[in-house]
Amino acid sequence: MKLNIALLAGDGIGPEVIDQAVKVVNAVAIKFKHEVNWTSALTGAAAIDAVGEPYPDETHAVCMAADAVLFGAIGHPRYDNDPKATVRPEQGLLKMRQKLGLFANVRPTFTFPSLIDNSPLKRERIEGTDLIILRELTGGIYFGERGRKDDGNTAFDTCTYTRVEVQRLAKLGFEMAMNRSKKLCCVDKANVLESSRLWRETVQAMEKEYPEVKVSYEFVDAVAMRLVQWPSSYDVLITENLFGDILTDEASVISGSMGLMPSSSIGLHTSLFEPIHGSYPQAAGLDIANPLATVLSAAMMFEDAFGLKEEAELIRAVVNKSLDEGIVTEDIVVKGKKAYKTTEVGDWLAANIA
Ligand code: IPM
Ligand code: MN
Repeated sequence: MKLNIALLAGDGIGPEVIDQAVKVVNAVAIKFKHEVNWTSALTGAAAIDAVGEPYPDETHAVCMAADAVLFGAIGHPRYDNDPKATVRPEQGLLKMRQKLGLFANVRPTFTFPSLIDNSPLKRERIEGTDLIILRELTGGIYFGERGRKDDGNTAFDTCTYTRVEVQRLAKLGFEMAMNRSKKLCCVDKANVLESSRLWRETVQAMEKEYPEVKVSYEFVDAVAMRLVQWPSSYDVLITENLFGDILTDEASVISGSMGLMPSSSIGLHTSLFEPIHGSYPQAAGLDIANPLATVLSAAMMFEDAFGLKEEAELIRAVVNKSLDEGIVTEDIVVKGKKAYKTTEVGDWLAANIA
């Protein structure tokens, strides 16, 4: 099969972790006789430096022409403490999500048996956790009207949702639930927010189309608590953009390391696959970043963008083997054991695919 993949390495540790995923994907392609065409394109601070824009039109054209986008990370400390910066790397990410119509962000959270004690949460609480947070990605407060009033002394951001936006996200949630344990949780703040009441009402109206799915409606503050108390009680959770942003960072704690969690974003055009960990600028260039989240994102890409499940399973198996054998970066190494470099982990994974 021909695999046309757009490669957006981005900022910080993005390029390093992407390099390892490329090694793994190439090894899989050789083994299964696929032909990979990589097309690299600029994004984030790297794109601002080169062309003054974090998601240039050329990059968008590359993404539109590809079958899948493999993405590293966006963000640079130079912009974080400068609230007056008019061009920011994150704008590139938001523009990319919007222009590619990536309205659904799939963020799985699961535990790895060999890493369960890495989590700050007690083993008995997290064992068996396997949940998916389905985050709406192109609406809500991220894209609503915002601005300043009263000579800059008042600021506002608005959270707006249409019924159609809720329906298309919820539909994916119901379908995922049907393929899993048939449990769906709608996370909102319907006791306060009108937009949440629209979510709840819309999801409630869809229930009759999926009579087998058991739907619960829970407030986001309560979910934030229960997610770390009894994560294994959840399966598929659907929620709006900002709640999903916050809950997915929280959920990554369950797995013991943010460096392990992959994600996919799907919608109207090319799907995108990325680690959830961000650009981690403190580690950039040090060859210490954990590449596994990006490698596991590549596994999601094989399965979801190309329908190649066997290839995806092989990648996951090799990642599990690296965890079992301790071929891991310093963030997840067992105390007293040798920590491997980013590049060494990538080489080991690729060699073990062959
Ligand atoms: C994420 C990130 C982004 C978000 C930032 C970098 C804009 O935190 O993908 O979760 O808030 O969506
Ligand atoms: Mn986030």
